[in-house]
Amino acid sequence: MSNIIAVANHKGGVGKTTSVQNIGVALSKLGKKILLIDLDPQANLSDSFGLEDAEVSIYDALTEKAPAPVHIVSDTLHIIPSNLDLSVAEVELSNVPGREYVLKEIVNQWDGMYDFIIIDCPPSLGLLTINALTACNEVYIPLDAQYFSMKGLDKLMFIINKIKVRLNKEVEVTGVFLTQFDNRLVLNKNIADMIEDYFPNKVFKTRIRKNIALVEAPIDNMDIFTYAPSSNGAKDYKNLGLEIVAAH
Ligand SMILES: Nc1ncnc2c1ncn2[C@@H]1O[C@H](COP(=O)(O)OP(=O)(O)O)[C@@H](O)[C@H]1O
Ligand SMILES: [Mg+2]
Repeated sequence: MSNIIAVANHKGGVGKTTSVQNIGVALSKLGKKILLIDLDPQANLSDSFGLEDAEVSIYDALTEKAPAPVHIVSDTLHIIPSNLDLSVAEVELSNVPGREYVLKEIVNQWDGMYDFIIIDCPPSLGLLTINALTACNEVYIPLDAQYFSMKGLDKLMFIINKIKVRLNKEVEVTGVFLTQFDNRLVLNKNIADMIEDYFPNKVFKTRIRKNIALVEAPIDNMDIFTYAPSSNGAKDYKNLGLEIVAAH
């Protein structure tokens, strides 16, 4: 069975997409076979792999117009892109019976063919995110150490718990990590302690530090390991990858 991980947080700008890209590449460099799924209509993940304006996307699969297009980045890293079409998927799916299970049905085709299937969620708690949380068995939650909000976290946990009861009893938050972390700020250290209390034993030791190379890399359609191999961003995502492998 594949480990199916949804990277979710309805807050935008917390590092979901940056993390899906670089965790994906880190794990593939550790010899794992990875499938990434871009489930955000903004398609930032697809863009960061140079798949701008993909003609066929996860949207076509969700609405049964075409099979899901799997693009090969490398032998061990594949991606199903998104495009702007996906922005109407929630409306189109709203009357479909079993609308929460549509992505699960697609993902099931590849179960066992990859070590990890990682889903980049959009910044909302709408039907697309609910599909991701129903299709996965693990949820990773990136949290921005700069603009952390406990209130937002309660809402996300409420939804995950509802999904666990109603749609997917396997779903479990297994990894929480801080992004944009600045060691020098007392506030960031306090937040790290708060998160530990809220998610006992679920917080990764690796904190992703604030690093400008992580902003620049996707603009050049690169991952952090190619763009700036000795940067803090590359070190942190490599360590996170090692922690993830150790946990499985
Ligand atoms: N550790 C980091 N240090 C500096 N900038 C970051 C870091 N992680 C992400 N960013 C930047 O923050 C912005 C939001 O990140 P992104 O991964 O797109 O978040 P999300 O997918 O949650 O909306 C992007 O411009 C990204 O380049
Ligand atoms: Mg994103």
